Amino acid sequence: MLRYLNGGESHGKYLVAVLEGVPAGLPLTPDMINQDLARRQKGYGRGGRMRVEEDQVEFACGVRKGLTIGNPIGLLIANKDWENWKDVMAVEPGPIPPEKVVTRPRPGHADLVGAIKYGHRDIRNVLEKASARETAIRVAVGGVAKALLGHFGMRVVSYTVEIGGIAAKRCDDPIEAYERAEASEVRSPDPEAGAKMVEQIRTAKHRGDTLGGVFEVVVTNPPIGLGSYAQWDRRLSARLAMAAMSIQAMKGVEIGMGFEAARRFGSEVHDEIYYDHTGREFVRKTNNAGGLEGGITNGQPIVLRVAMKPISTLYSPKKSVDIETKEPFDAAVERSDICTVPAAGVVGEAVVAFEMANALIEKFGGDSLEEMKRNFDAYQAYVKAF
Ligand SMILES: Cc1cc2nc3c(=O)[nH]c(=O)nc-3n(C[C@H](O)[C@H](O)[C@H](O)COP(=O)(O)O)c2cc1C
Repeated sequence: MLRYLNGGESHGKYLVAVLEGVPAGLPLTPDMINQDLARRQKGYGRGGRMRVEEDQVEFACGVRKGLTIGNPIGLLIANKDWENWKDVMAVEPGPIPPEKVVTRPRPGHADLVGAIKYGHRDIRNVLEKASARETAIRVAVGGVAKALLGHFGMRVVSYTVEIGGIAAKRCDDPIEAYERAEASEVRSPDPEAGAKMVEQIRTAKHRGDTLGGVFEVVVTNPPIGLGSYAQWDRRLSARLAMAAMSIQAMKGVEIGMGFEAARRFGSEVHDEIYYDHTGREFVRKTNNAGGLEGGITNGQPIVLRVAMKPISTLYSPKKSVDIETKEPFDAAVERSDICTVPAAGVVGEAVVAFEMANALIEKFGGDSLEEMKRNFDAYQAYVKAF
């Protein structure tokens, strides 16, 4: 089983994670992860914080001479901005300067409910962890998972499908869509729609407003048989949906045809089964199921679409109430993202990669990469002969 815990305040010294269950012998270098960290920081519509940070991962343990050794892997990302917050965020005992205490909860954030729940009179204690700054360390964990999946022929890619109501034209080849998206500042596979998305973000910024959208994550070449129908919490479809919904600001997930399937006749939805006698395999001509039947991978690409709400913090004011004075005020900011759908796609890849790696380790076990490969190859031969 693969598992991790993460910690770290947005303006603390570090973001940290401990990842356990990665087999020994997996080649792993910071470069492999830093690429994704850089991709998460990009995208048209981001605010000032991303210009301050330049995320780089450091392995604190579990990696030796560029290879995992089977021990828990410690991952660290230093927050550069911490230098400016050393006093406010100090670990040592001492008073918080009264002017730095946050008493004004922002609508659409964990601020008010988090303060009530944990008994905080300084909302900073809530927002520092509820913030999507956390997604940097989750991208790092996902980077390790992607490295493992690569040895079993799988890739996890993403691209923007929609921003603020502007939809990209569909591109049937996910790798082509991904490559086109990587060249776009909004990660749109359709350049024409991409230009309109940029325009829409500009309009939102002008109005002091924000935007959300939809991104798609695809896992190519999964083996048949990951996940299970045998118990509710082993369904891979459910685990992927939970992973996607665990990202800040995500409000909906679709698998394959998704909500559209609810509007169609069954005859238009279910992917018929054929047998290819030359290749000796069961094949489908459609992938409306998005690669999952009964919570199990069916060998088709896994397709997940995730909906993100507009960024909560607005330049134009929203009504709120001070927790100390109980007086109303207008919540507004000077520095925030306008739209982070492009970055959210990269985070989506990471959380999906983690779930896929976990399911792969469950099925093929193994304490070392070599052992996992032996198990995987034997299983693939069995599937061919089935
Ligand atoms: C990559 C990424 C960046 C984000 N940046 C911001 C931001 O700059 N300002 C903001 O108000 N919300 C931002 N969010 C969303 C909030 O973190 C999120 O809406 C908030 O924590 C409340 O959580 P909930 O929407 O899941 O209820 C971002 C989300 C993601 C995925």
